[in-house]
Amino acid sequence: MCGIFGYIGNKNSIKECLQGLKLLEYRGYDSAGIATIQDAKILSFKSPGKLIELEKKINIFKDLKFDLAIGHTRWATHGSPTLANAHPHFDEKLKLAIVHNGIIENYASIRKKLLSKNILFRSETDTEVMAQLISYYYANDLLKAFDKAIKELTGSYAIALIHANHPDEIVASSKESPIVIGFDDNKDEIIISSDPNAFLGRNLNILFLKNNEIAHIKNKKINIYDKNLKIIHKKTERLNSKNISFSKNGFEHYLLKEIYEQPLTIQKAFLGRIQLKSGEVEFEDFNLPKSFLKKFKHIIITACGTSYHAGLCASNFFQKYLKINCSVEIASEMRFKDLNLTKDTLIIAISQSGETADTLSAIRKAKENNCHILSIVNVKNSTIARESDSSIFLKAGPEISVCSTKAFTSQITVLYLLAIYFARSRNLLEKKDAQIFLKELKKIPNIIKKILKKRKEIEKIAQKYAIYNSFFFLGRNLMYPTAMEAALKLKEISYIDANAYPAGEMKHGPLALISEKLPIVGFCLNEKTYDKMLSNLMEAKARSAPILAIASKKSYGIEDIADDIIWVDKVIDDLAIFPATIVGQLLAYFIAIIKKTDIDQPRNLAKSVTVE
Ligand code: M6R
Repeated sequence: MCGIFGYIGNKNSIKECLQGLKLLEYRGYDSAGIATIQDAKILSFKSPGKLIELEKKINIFKDLKFDLAIGHTRWATHGSPTLANAHPHFDEKLKLAIVHNGIIENYASIRKKLLSKNILFRSETDTEVMAQLISYYYANDLLKAFDKAIKELTGSYAIALIHANHPDEIVASSKESPIVIGFDDNKDEIIISSDPNAFLGRNLNILFLKNNEIAHIKNKKINIYDKNLKIIHKKTERLNSKNISFSKNGFEHYLLKEIYEQPLTIQKAFLGRIQLKSGEVEFEDFNLPKSFLKKFKHIIITACGTSYHAGLCASNFFQKYLKINCSVEIASEMRFKDLNLTKDTLIIAISQSGETADTLSAIRKAKENNCHILSIVNVKNSTIARESDSSIFLKAGPEISVCSTKAFTSQITVLYLLAIYFARSRNLLEKKDAQIFLKELKKIPNIIKKILKKRKEIEKIAQKYAIYNSFFFLGRNLMYPTAMEAALKLKEISYIDANAYPAGEMKHGPLALISEKLPIVGFCLNEKTYDKMLSNLMEAKARSAPILAIASKKSYGIEDIADDIIWVDKVIDDLAIFPATIVGQLLAYFIAIIKKTDIDQPRNLAKSVTVE
């Protein structure tokens, strides 16, 4: 994972680097570090823990002017999150500093080779092995040494490096890990980053490095080389994010702000896409060939974490309206499965960040099998968006909290619209039926607003339930993936053990765990399975489990079973995911507040998971 950043330009490079790393900290926050060059020597600062710790260390240098700097924010893979393992890493002579995102698979054998040449190592990391190898090949030409070294590496990397003998140069390269370079028209500032999020607040030309390409930046020049070290010319795009900023808007945490944004973000996901009069759905920038649209025979949705749950929620809807099979694959597993992938398979890849390595691997495998890849992503210009045949964007704005909330509800919205779009294109859905559904969907933002007003009530219930060490989240039909998502929220931000089960499965084993110490959160918003859900809750109650139910105002019988009920407005079964999810998010948030956890940056996690 990790975020890397490099800066050459007319501003204070240390300050710019810190600013850039702040925008990349969501990629990992186990340690951070910055290196620059002063008097032909590498000057570096590192700190375990969050960026704020590093900032404290370099405060006195923040006003000095350095022309260039590289920086890193780490999510630990090889080696624990200690100072010694923090990036940048150096060669033995401390002439070269390198920052790296990715994993070098053959680092052990290279390390062995270098150890046999009596080269001393300071850390356990694969990154230091790279630094030492480049240095080993160095003979006054940084680019050549770099090129020779990376040809020996297997695995994935995005690298930026500086050398004390070359005080005006940065070299960078990418293999299976993204690197984007941004620069203004005069190249007064040239920035290297793991992703365009670090360009927030700027108006830049950008270019992405492809696998094995090397960027050599020197004297306001950016030369890009291919794997044969031949200069290539790359197209640039314009990215203007001058008016976008990260802010909590007065909320205590990004998470709460993002939960509260959902009435708006859901609206943004359907705005301009729903044509109520004709009962049609339209997507901008959508280039699925018409012939394919009519003929694909199978849908595979692939994603991770919360995005996977969104896929589970939507698959039923695709099957219902398209009358074809729609399976959902966890991306990290899909790559290793023997799936029947053909040119008639539509792959829908869902990812908030568009950078998740597992999802990328899954779509690359599908591409090898000539499948059409349609991605649903939030971040434009992300790797998944760029590698897909077509993309639909969530338009939810930056999601900063590691715990995903608004992306989930936008994903469901877009997936539902997509199902309607396909069904209408294939003449499988009548205009009036589409209109009825779309009208109901348009009501969701207001339904959510009402739940958000129940904040105090949910906070009170959270206080009662925060004493427990384990939870079961139960649901049936669409409420099962909804329960999975709610359980993930609780685990992720409160560090409480939370398991989700299809309620009917309890009697096949998990019921053995039930006691007065294990509360059940029951999602009772599906009319189709309501009676059965009540029976399952009764079975748990009979074994003394405290029961917290989420039910709609028109339901009956639940009051006799549940200890606590959070009432929400009644919506049609397909849309019940929305109110249930908002309650789950708020419940997790308020329990985490009581647990005093690091809500926006939970331990051991990162927002963008760029390793497999
Ligand atoms: O960016 P993506 O949607 O591809 O991320 C997938 C998961 O890593 C992500 O949803 C993760 O599960 C969240 N932290 C859950 O809140």
